[in-house]
Amino acid sequence: MRKIQIFDTTLRDGEQAPGAAMTIEQKYEFALQLARLGVDIIEAGFPVSSPHQFEASKRIAENVKGPVIAGLARSVEKDIDAVYESIKGAETTRLHTFIATSPIHMEYKLKMTPDQVVENAVKAVSYARNKFAQVEFSPEDGTRSELDFLYRIIEAVIDAGATVINVPDTVGYTMPDEIGHIFSSIMNNVPNIDKAILSTHNHNDLGMAVANTLAAINNGAGQAEVSLNGIGERAGNAALEELVMALNVRKDLHEIDTNIDAKQLFYTSKMLSTIIASPIPRNKPITGANAFAHESGIHQHGMLSNRETYEIMTPESVGREASEIVLGRHSGLHGFTKRIKELGLALSDEQIGTAFKVFLSLADRKKEVFDEDILQIAGSVLGKKSHFYDLDYFNVTSGNAAIPTATVRIKVKDEASEEAATGDGPISAIYQAIDKATGITGKLEEYHVNAVTSGKQAIGEVSVVVLIDGKQYNGKGSSTDILKASARAYIGALNRFKLSVENAGG
Ligand code: KIV
Ligand code: ZN
Repeated sequence: MRKIQIFDTTLRDGEQAPGAAMTIEQKYEFALQLARLGVDIIEAGFPVSSPHQFEASKRIAENVKGPVIAGLARSVEKDIDAVYESIKGAETTRLHTFIATSPIHMEYKLKMTPDQVVENAVKAVSYARNKFAQVEFSPEDGTRSELDFLYRIIEAVIDAGATVINVPDTVGYTMPDEIGHIFSSIMNNVPNIDKAILSTHNHNDLGMAVANTLAAINNGAGQAEVSLNGIGERAGNAALEELVMALNVRKDLHEIDTNIDAKQLFYTSKMLSTIIASPIPRNKPITGANAFAHESGIHQHGMLSNRETYEIMTPESVGREASEIVLGRHSGLHGFTKRIKELGLALSDEQIGTAFKVFLSLADRKKEVFDEDILQIAGSVLGKKSHFYDLDYFNVTSGNAAIPTATVRIKVKDEASEEAATGDGPISAIYQAIDKATGITGKLEEYHVNAVTSGKQAIGEVSVVVLIDGKQYNGKGSSTDILKASARAYIGALNRFKLSVENAGG
């Protein structure tokens, strides 16, 4: 089995993407996680570009053990010196230097002749060879460069001391067959190519980045440059998690391995999404919310008989929890019955039949039916109460010079329970007071607020996820007063918790 080196560029190419900027601390924390994930090389940044980039690369180089630490430089001494000064503390250092080689870049961007480009590249690599353990050279826009020119420059920089040659599809223009041809041609026409590792770096402008990476690997690349969640310039880079799982799931076809611990993929992807505040699209392969969710009745039936009918990999293999059977309008009785049993509800077959009819009419009106809805339906079929707490009154004092304090009165059946509490902010004070009034201790796991109408009088909709006794409960509340909406959402989650306690076991 051949092993491919994974070069992670989330912190360099990825961080260059609009909206993906990170603080030094965030870059460092993420680099530690990349080491746990098992990447071979971390490209920490572009040190010459700013003091922030320099410091972040330095912090990573000095503290992250395991992976090789790389820094990016144009083919000029000033950039190379900056990389050296910032990453010299690493266990193993790598300079990544580049210069464009396509006719359009040489003529319009560099305003250099091909001879001058070769001369610059060789000078840069020669200058760097004794400063760094490894030197990587990238002919930028390589896949739109003339093949004969590529052979020439690659041979020259390997002679000058380059240990890795990375041929980037800088503008995401090339198709998998073409990339395969470029890589096999380089392998066959550059006489000293055996003295370097060939690498691939693909942008996703036409959605081909992972496919192109696989094509390059199958034609000689020994290193793949990728980023978590596929972040990077414009449409991004090849997504690390997609490439790794394509190799893992189709080992029969590729016979290629990596050092990545796939069980860390989900966590790492989520961590990045939180750091850069960029949600993972629901349908994103491997880490999206829907990647292991099944809604249609036919799919759910198949999954319940044998998960391989609709799953080519397990969620556990990428560090996720078990597959989700999502209940919605396309679901069937099989999936519904299974969920009723999982929730510990003791309904007879006849009661399940009745509950299923109610469920179908609710599913017609709602995008997704949650566990709490099922509990409510089951409660009504069993003739049990579904509403326990109501917000009767609340008052909050807050300000930049006051400790936020809230008083709430909650109606519990026909009685009222009133409590006061302080918190870090007004919402936290309200939630603490509600906890006291209901005697339930909830931990707020998620809090989202949306304006559902526009203008100054907009209605705010608050949705929360509250952890109680190790289980999550959703709640929603809306009002023109965001504090009231927040209180209602929290009480909604507590009501759902009470429902599940009351209805469990019949
Ligand atoms: O896409 C690209 O060409 C790059 C180089 C610096 C390798 O990111
Ligand atoms: Zn790039």
